[in-house]
Amino acid sequence: MSSPLPVETGWRKTTDICVSSAVWRLPAPAHCDHLTRDTGPEAEATLIKRVNHQSTSQEFAAAAPKLRCISCGRVSDRAGQTFRCTQCGDLVEIAYPDWKANELVRSSARLKALWRERKTSPHAADQSGVWRFRELLPGLRSLDSVVTLREGNTPVYQLQRSARLSGVDTVLTKHQGMNPTGSFKDTGMTVATSFAKEAGFRWVACASTGNTSASMAAYAARAGMQALVLIPQGKISWSKLAQALDYGALTCQLRADFDGCMRVLNEVVLRMPAYLLNSVNPYRIEGQKTVALELVEQLNWELPDHIIVPGGNLGNSSAIGKAFLEMKELGLISRLPKLSVVQAEGANPLVRMIRSKGEHLVPVEAETAATAIRIGNPASWKKALGVLKATEGAVDEVSEVEIAQAKAEIGSEGIGCEPASAVTLAGLKKLVRRGFIKPAETVVLILTGHFLKDPEFTLKFHRGELFAGGKDDSAASALLSYQRAPIVLDASADAVLAALERAENS
Ligand code: F0G
Repeated sequence: MSSPLPVETGWRKTTDICVSSAVWRLPAPAHCDHLTRDTGPEAEATLIKRVNHQSTSQEFAAAAPKLRCISCGRVSDRAGQTFRCTQCGDLVEIAYPDWKANELVRSSARLKALWRERKTSPHAADQSGVWRFRELLPGLRSLDSVVTLREGNTPVYQLQRSARLSGVDTVLTKHQGMNPTGSFKDTGMTVATSFAKEAGFRWVACASTGNTSASMAAYAARAGMQALVLIPQGKISWSKLAQALDYGALTCQLRADFDGCMRVLNEVVLRMPAYLLNSVNPYRIEGQKTVALELVEQLNWELPDHIIVPGGNLGNSSAIGKAFLEMKELGLISRLPKLSVVQAEGANPLVRMIRSKGEHLVPVEAETAATAIRIGNPASWKKALGVLKATEGAVDEVSEVEIAQAKAEIGSEGIGCEPASAVTLAGLKKLVRRGFIKPAETVVLILTGHFLKDPEFTLKFHRGELFAGGKDDSAASALLSYQRAPIVLDASADAVLAALERAENS
């Protein structure tokens, strides 16, 4: 069983993670125009400190959060290494009992104005599309601890062709792949690594299908912490692996799937004081909430009817749902959009559970070319289920061919995303066919990862190699018109013009 690490290794043993309350200061922009220069983590920390100390404007107490078990409701100030309830072992979430008494948080007009105002601030924390919304986040002891790559601030695009193809009037996408390391993970990572830094951890750790590890490695490097990455050997894209290596993580490829990596990591963090950065970490969930705030702000506080999110470990759907529920509680919005989760057919434990009206999730052995969501035992299924119920959303599953087609369709609109993100459009088509989404309704697809996260998938698709010789080979023939294999030609204008003519006439 687990044994504590020997003293002579020099580990700093930090077993409890404390939720602190804090006083946040608003910066005085006039003093700090130099802050926009990116001069490395240490210089940046010094600058942030200077700006905070120069600050003369409004001060306010940030939310004093508690950790609450999602099953037994036990409330505490501290979490153990695996962020599980000490009483019943289920996941904990962050709750904000002090919001009721906080005048600023209770004033939706003031909050909206403050968040808008911060957009023009030169302060690093204000330029972050996450920390800009810090009134709804757990408070650090000091703003100096913020580790930021200016995450968030992602665009909303209209997808006209996808709307036509799926039979609804308005399809928008919030592109979280436009975050600094190319995935939505950055929005959670900025919050959780800031807490890890403040708690004095030397090591942070995660199991990952690729994006979490890329993001964690980058934020750890910015914070001056060491990163331990556990990934399934041969089952993550090279681009994501390359990111973790370049950002300096100790990267271990385990002979296991993601669920196996997670199992090992849970034991590792009990045996050494590394800070767990998977989405069971409730601080990550708090950061990931901000995509919902930013989205609704970008839509001028008008709500879409539906939000569609890919489902893997089910942290992201939980986070987005939590944000909408909290916004409603605070009067920032007056109704809830329906939040639906789409899984790949080969990694569909939540869909199975809901279809069979089961009360517990039964893990599956996951298989899908959308490797980011190749997860058979999602940790946050109860949180996601709660969100589906509260928002009256749906679940659905999509095939490998449907994923590849939807990815090509999004790409053909000049947007592009990684395969796991494309389940949202594939799922939208199904939800429209089922009558769950009506033609006049507005839908937002959350694209979770950047196009360049998995170029191998895309190249195989266009070369016709993705499904060749496999069980989907014949179904994939419907995708021929989407495929654009590169043409090899002699280096002459004649050859190029002939190719152009063939393209015009095809
Ligand atoms: N989309 C992308 C691009 C992802 O990387 C992930 C998860 C998901 C969707 C699913 O989100 O797990 O919160 O339901 N990737 C994790 C990782 C598990 O390790 O990078 P979820």
